[in-house]
Amino acid sequence: MKTHITICGGGNAAHTLTGLLSSNDELSVRVYLPFGDEAEKWREGILQNGGITVDTPQKTLLGKPNAICQDPRDAVTEAQIILLALPAFAHEPILKQIAPYIYQGAWVGALPARGGLDLCFRDIFKERLSEIVIFGFQTLPWACRIQHYGKQATILGAKEQVDLTAWPANKAPVISTRLQELFGISINPVSSFLSLMLADTGQIIHPGIMYGLFHEWDGVPYEQQKLFYQAVDEEIAAVLQNMSEEIQMLRARLETVYPAIDLTSARPIDEWLKRSYRANIVDGSTLHASFATNRSYAGLMAPMIKTEDGFIPDFQARYLSEDVPYNLLVTRGVAELAGITTPMIDQVLLWAQERLNKEYLVEGKVCGKDLPATRAPQRYGLTDIYQLVQEMDYL
Ligand code: NAI
Repeated sequence: MKTHITICGGGNAAHTLTGLLSSNDELSVRVYLPFGDEAEKWREGILQNGGITVDTPQKTLLGKPNAICQDPRDAVTEAQIILLALPAFAHEPILKQIAPYIYQGAWVGALPARGGLDLCFRDIFKERLSEIVIFGFQTLPWACRIQHYGKQATILGAKEQVDLTAWPANKAPVISTRLQELFGISINPVSSFLSLMLADTGQIIHPGIMYGLFHEWDGVPYEQQKLFYQAVDEEIAAVLQNMSEEIQMLRARLETVYPAIDLTSARPIDEWLKRSYRANIVDGSTLHASFATNRSYAGLMAPMIKTEDGFIPDFQARYLSEDVPYNLLVTRGVAELAGITTPMIDQVLLWAQERLNKEYLVEGKVCGKDLPATRAPQRYGLTDIYQLVQEMDYL
């Protein structure tokens, strides 16, 4: 019997997953595309191309999904696995659309999860949450890009190993095993959504480097686009180091209060960098050298917009617009509940919220008017760390 899978989303990740999974005869794949005219464009593209082509460094796959759906009932009623291949800001609207029709016992998860995904699920599903299993990936397993919309995507590179967590937590190994078979990558189950979130170094690196590169910008366009990772100097590395130490302090506090909690995957930034990229780092003697000489980061540019007068920073880029409200702010909110002060993270957040024209942090508290468009625990009415850990089953 075929496994029914629904992919939600129409971007780079969704193209890649659709081509990959639809090429597997054991699966029946539906794509849920309620956004704009995406469904129409996918149907046209698939008709012309015979499916979605995915070029990988090793081979080319072609897969034709069984249905392109605009109606949430059609999209998910039969699905045993539902994949949200979406930017974090789209998780909530899509989950609200599909929630009434999800099959009992379905596995529903996001690639990548970002922070507070489980809080968002609990808020939407309420007492029905126990009818499903939720999961989240630490990151998208691939660097991938659409080549031709509705027709073709390219996998530029695949991660060697990707962490996954689930709720209930004891389901993480079985989901990891099944998705490992389907995706052809190595998936490592980790203990909880809290652990997955604290381990997410993107929340340090992306806003931290943006702050480092642009906090002194005077509004005059730059002559050239800046490098991103290779521009990390001693000063920017110190920002990243301090942010990482503050998250480690939060981890230590949680481990003191809850000796049984498992947060081992939340590693300090230098350790994470060496573990992830050891073979590609030419000079690992300092944190800034580890960034600047990491061959995997070579040539990657800072998000900037070309204008007639030169290049200006793109403050709406995902490095701030996704990594702040759906990552760093969520961690900052947990730190507040745990009574940990985070001066460096606060400095970065205060700068970033101004660039994003948002209000998240006010007088040292996660209580700004834009909280409803975040996943900080304060948004969901959680007021202390005991409530968070117990209600969310982090032990
Ligand atoms: P994308 O920007 O290509 O996805 C856009 C898609 O999201 C749209 O096509 C639409 O289907 C959906 N969408 C956008 N706004 C929506 C809304 N308001 N309501 C409903 N749906 C909406 O993103 P991509 O590249 O597929 O990435 C997905 C996630 O993976 C993001 O969080 C991204 O940061 C992350 N990621 C992507 C990588 C890549 O190589 N593409 C690498 C690592 C992480």
